[in-house]
Amino acid sequence: MTTLVEQDPELIRQVREVLGADVTVVESLDRLGEHLATHPHEYAVVVGQSVDAGAAGAFAEASRIQQPALGVIMLRSFVDTEVLANALRSGMRDVIAVDDLTGLSSAVARSRTLSHAMSGTADRAVEAADGLLFTIFSTKGGVGKSLVATNVAAALADQGRRVCIVDLDVQCGDVAIMLQLNPLHTLADLTQLSGQIDPGGVESLLSLHSENLSVLAAPVQLETHVQPEQVSSVLETLKTMFDVVVVDTSGAFDDHALAALDHSDLLVLVGTLDIPALKSLKLAAGTLDLLNYPRERWRLVLNRADSKVGLSAKEFEETLGVTAAISIPSSRDVLAAVNRGETIVRSSAGHQISKTLTGFAGGLYADAAPASAEVTSGGSRRGNRRKLRAKKVS
Ligand SMILES: Nc1ncnc2c1ncn2[C@@H]1O[C@H](COP(=O)(O)OP(=O)(O)OP(=O)(O)O)[C@@H](O)[C@H]1O
Ligand SMILES: [Mg+2]
Repeated sequence: MTTLVEQDPELIRQVREVLGADVTVVESLDRLGEHLATHPHEYAVVVGQSVDAGAAGAFAEASRIQQPALGVIMLRSFVDTEVLANALRSGMRDVIAVDDLTGLSSAVARSRTLSHAMSGTADRAVEAADGLLFTIFSTKGGVGKSLVATNVAAALADQGRRVCIVDLDVQCGDVAIMLQLNPLHTLADLTQLSGQIDPGGVESLLSLHSENLSVLAAPVQLETHVQPEQVSSVLETLKTMFDVVVVDTSGAFDDHALAALDHSDLLVLVGTLDIPALKSLKLAAGTLDLLNYPRERWRLVLNRADSKVGLSAKEFEETLGVTAAISIPSSRDVLAAVNRGETIVRSSAGHQISKTLTGFAGGLYADAAPASAEVTSGGSRRGNRRKLRAKKVS
């Protein structure tokens, strides 16, 4: 449930319009404290603009320690980078401008998902399996996740690994298009496996793109419902079938992404050099920290990282607190390869961007593969690895 701290009847009305009537309203932070003491399962607090920003920040800071599953979202009449940076530093999940409340319901939804995950629903046991799994993630669309996912997958396949790329962008996945594939089966056909998710069943959903590279494509039809539990079993099964599973995600912190994160050995965060992308990655980073996904297993890719765009890579890295593993500039050659349905690592192997991506893919494999494992070209590895989720959040 969500609680709003506000006194202005007009703002209360507007928030109720966006979030529905299911919102408890209290007039001050003191009243909020009393309310939370008797309602421990609240997942979001929206602090209205009648509450002083400093007091709201102090509340968020305390709540980060005392009730980490509770998301604090602040409403302000004016949101600039300073307001945002202060809020995020104090542990708030988001700041929304009062004249544009459209982002409020998704901010509340993210809090609900996170709270849900932290209370254990998504804390599924992770089985040891043979293959590595890399999740390509961001909480913003259009930053280059699919570009990175398809190129990393193709590069690893060319390095002799048996690779499966999974398109978990179930509403709008474009991995198949980017690889010029017309898949006969997709994740939508999972329901036909009638609960029997085993290698034989999963194999029947795959499309072979090229030597060593298989694809589990996203549903073609919108509104196809794919159960996160099934996704989890599929990923676990794929890890027993392939050397590497590369998962492309949608840009939402949803149950599918959480399922992928649960099985990930490394998490590749993709960002572009702009304030909205920085904001969304900062929020994602805070959430990943809360969920105990260890930072040493994150790899940051800065895409479209050109020199004169107003925000430098250094500023981006410092604000996010993560150093980029690679930077990819904007390039017409990238776009041209995408439009031809090719990966640039294959179509222009000598291009600097291809070399960067190929080196990055090899580095991911080297970092995640157990040092003691016997690695043979094209063969599989055996050994234990530490999964991305280090420990359960209590
Ligand atoms: N470095 C680059 N140079 C030029 N074009 C790029 C670059 N990176 C990505 N693009 C283009 O930007 C568009 C978005 O990239 P992509 O589809 O990989 O992003 P995404 O994060 O997967 O988006 P979505 O969230 O919609 O799935 C594509 O048309 C892609 O070709
Ligand atoms: Mg994509």
